[in-house]
Amino acid sequence: MRTVDLIQRKRDGEALTDQELRSLCNGAADGTIPDYQVTAFLMATYLKGMTDEETALLTMAMAESGEQIDLSSLPGVKVDKHSTGGVGDTTTLVLAPLAAACGATVAKMSGRGLGHTGGTLDKMESIPGLTTKQTREQFLDQVRKIGVAVISQTPTLVPADSKFYGLRDVTATVDSIPLIASSVMSKKIASGAQVIVLDVKTGRGAFMKTLEDSRKLARSMVDIGRRLGRQMTAVITDMDVPLGNYIGNALEVREAIEILAGKHAGTPLWEVSLTLCGHMLSLADLAIDPTDGRAKAEEALRNGAGLRKLREMIEAQGGDGRVVEDLSLLPEAGQTDDLSADRDGWIASIDALAVGEAAMRLGAGRAKKDDVIDPSVGVVLKVRAGQKVSRGEVIATMHVNEPNRLPDARERLANAFKWSDSVVHPHALIREVVS
Ligand code: URA
Ligand code: CA
Repeated sequence: MRTVDLIQRKRDGEALTDQELRSLCNGAADGTIPDYQVTAFLMATYLKGMTDEETALLTMAMAESGEQIDLSSLPGVKVDKHSTGGVGDTTTLVLAPLAAACGATVAKMSGRGLGHTGGTLDKMESIPGLTTKQTREQFLDQVRKIGVAVISQTPTLVPADSKFYGLRDVTATVDSIPLIASSVMSKKIASGAQVIVLDVKTGRGAFMKTLEDSRKLARSMVDIGRRLGRQMTAVITDMDVPLGNYIGNALEVREAIEILAGKHAGTPLWEVSLTLCGHMLSLADLAIDPTDGRAKAEEALRNGAGLRKLREMIEAQGGDGRVVEDLSLLPEAGQTDDLSADRDGWIASIDALAVGEAAMRLGAGRAKKDDVIDPSVGVVLKVRAGQKVSRGEVIATMHVNEPNRLPDARERLANAFKWSDSVVHPHALIREVVS
């Protein structure tokens, strides 16, 4: 089969077959199809879309372009979770230990942060000594012993996605539902879990800015997972405003630990973490329904089992477990700088994208894939959307190491706050559940 013919058929809006999609994915992964042809296929897909069945076939072909992790030797129901990426989104560090404490088997591979969104691995690596690199044997052993591991995804996992993603990034083909859905789901399928809970973000800080597009993406990913025999639920959550109040790597670890230690009850990060965990436990048959699952997760939080599990995980991955009791062991920035309100009024919104970019300017994130991050810097929000604030009140604190980065970050952060002269009602946090 000639690649040019496949490109032409996709260009003309036809659906490709299983065999054709496999030929494209394998050729992209092993380099036998040149980048210009892969790119033409991606652009044709971007413009013409794919049928549901075709998207599922593409996902499977991508997953099978590299190593597939076999979790079948592990006891229990293997669960996984994916967030489409947000700001101050540390749910994995809260819910992975909670789910494990409730009896689920959490063998999780995660990614790094890019742009204004953070990555779980970068956050975890701010814990002194902790490593996210493990051999397959170490990974499976750890999960067998303590029920949870969160490690880095290796280049052998879904090489077709690495190729596609790199090209999409520079050819304006990222925001396509079949391409995002197959990219996310191929990695989830290749990582081996039976139960997959998706947190699909919607709003200014998300890939999908509207509820309608977020719903389409969520439905597509749930459909793919179902077709491939997985238990699926997607929760659509707000990402107009940052999820947590702490943005930056060690700062987000701090917030996750504080939540597991019983603080911040009722905050958005607490709420989304418990909701996702509830769905996970329900799909894994460790709870009757999502409400019961959430109650079980809350109990594991209240009685300290989640925090103990996090400590076990940190220690199993070479980190200093005392950090869960002594947050001063986390790296701290050299100085802090407060941002104060320059007026009275209500906070109408806090632009997640702008806050994420401010944290990135301070050194918390990467503009390019191989930029080095500073684990200690970032932003702590002191107010939430909907809150009434008086002039002079501190609304955010920046944690800084390089003062020359401050002016740019400060300006972005100040512009993130949208004001109102009258009372405002922020968006609901949990927008929809797709299952
Ligand atoms: N995250 C992914 O892994 N892939 C995409 O295409 C978009 C977000
Ligand atoms: Ca310290």
